[in-house]
Amino acid sequence: MNIKTLQSLFLQRFVRDGALYASPGRVNLIGEHTDYNGGFVFPGAIDKAIYASVLLNGTDKVRAYAIDYDEYCEFGLREEDKPAEHWACYIFGVCREIQKRGYQLQGFDTCFYGDIPLGAGMSSSAALESTFAFALNDLLNLGIDRFELARIGQSTEHNYCGVKCGIMDQFASLFGKAGHLMRLNCATMEFEYFPFNPEGYKLVLLDTVVKHELASSAYNKRRESCENVCRHIAARHPEVKYLSDASTEMLKEVEKEVSDEDYMRAEYVIGEKQRVLDVCEALERCDYETVGEKMYGTHHGMSKLYEVSCDELDFLNEIAKECGVTGSRVMGGGFGGCTINLVKEELYDTFVATAQEKFAARFGHEPKIYDVVISDGSRKI
Ligand code: GLA
Repeated sequence: MNIKTLQSLFLQRFVRDGALYASPGRVNLIGEHTDYNGGFVFPGAIDKAIYASVLLNGTDKVRAYAIDYDEYCEFGLREEDKPAEHWACYIFGVCREIQKRGYQLQGFDTCFYGDIPLGAGMSSSAALESTFAFALNDLLNLGIDRFELARIGQSTEHNYCGVKCGIMDQFASLFGKAGHLMRLNCATMEFEYFPFNPEGYKLVLLDTVVKHELASSAYNKRRESCENVCRHIAARHPEVKYLSDASTEMLKEVEKEVSDEDYMRAEYVIGEKQRVLDVCEALERCDYETVGEKMYGTHHGMSKLYEVSCDELDFLNEIAKECGVTGSRVMGGGFGGCTINLVKEELYDTFVATAQEKFAARFGHEPKIYDVVISDGSRKI
C-alpha cells in the first residue's frame, strides 16, 4: 500500500479526489506513565504513520473505508450514531469531540491505511485520531491549534474508546519534528525540541508481537492508583496537584494510608520524573552511558513496581543487558508491545541476531525489528 494506491482507491469508491493527510506514530525515549501524572515525557514522532484521503461530502454522514481491514462503515455525527466497528469509533470520537467544543462539522468521505504496527506501543490509535482531527481542522478552516487537536484525540480515547490515557501520544504525533525529540512538561504543556542524533548509536525497537488482553483496564487501574495516592498526599500538601509534584518524602508520609500496591505504583512515578530530567541533562553532554543506565532503571521500575511488563519484554530486556546494549526498556503503556533499545552501531547486528534467536527458542516466534527514524508530525501531503 502506498499513497498512489490510496488515491486511486478513494477515486474508485467516491468518484472524486480527496485531500491527503498523514500523522505518525511515536517512540518515547524515557518518561513512561508520567503524562497523566503531570510529569515529563520525551517522545519523538516516527516514520510510520496513518495516511488518509479525506473529502467533505455535503451531507451529515461520514463514509469511511479502512483499507487495512477491508471494512466500510457509514455513521452520522450525533452522539447516538456511534458505529460498531472499533476503528471507526476513533474517527467518530474525533468528530464528536470537535463538535463538543462548539465547532460546526460536516460529513466527509475517507479512505485510510497505516504502516504503524498495531498494538506494538507505537500509538497507532493516536495517529488515527490526529490524522482526522488535523484533516477536519484544515478542510473546515476551524482554526484549532495543535494542542487542542491533541486534546481532541485524548478525549476521544477517554470518551469513546475506554482508555484514560495521557496526552503524550497525540502530542507527539501532532508536534513531531524530524531529527528531534520533545521534552514535554505534561502539567504545563511547555515543551522543548532536543536534536537527537546520537553519533555511533542506533535506536531500535524489538516488538514482542504480543498484546495482552485487558491492557486498557489495567492501564486505567494504574491511573486510579496514582490519583488515589495523589489525593492522600495533597490532603497534607495542597500544593501537590499531580503525583509528579510529590517527593519521595511526601510519599513516605502516606505509606500507612494507601495499599502496598498503590505505594509501589507511586514510587515508580516519582522516580521516573527524575530519570527524564537526568536523561535530558546527559544528552546535552552526549553522555549516552547515563541515558542507557536510566532506560534500564525505567524498565526495572515498570516491571517490578508499576508491573506493566511481561515475560516477553523482560526477556528482551535481559538479552539486551547480556549483549552489552547501552539502554533498553519496555516502551509505551506496556503489557506487550516493544522494547526500545539504544545500541552501539558495532553491536547492532549481534544484538538483533541474538535477540531473534533466543526469543524464538523461548517463545516460538521471532520479535519484529524496527529501526527508529525520528520524523515530522501531522501534515497535509
Ligand atoms: C500509552 C498512553 C500514553 C502514556 C503511555 C505510557 O501510550 O496513551 O498517554 O500514558 O501509555 O507512558
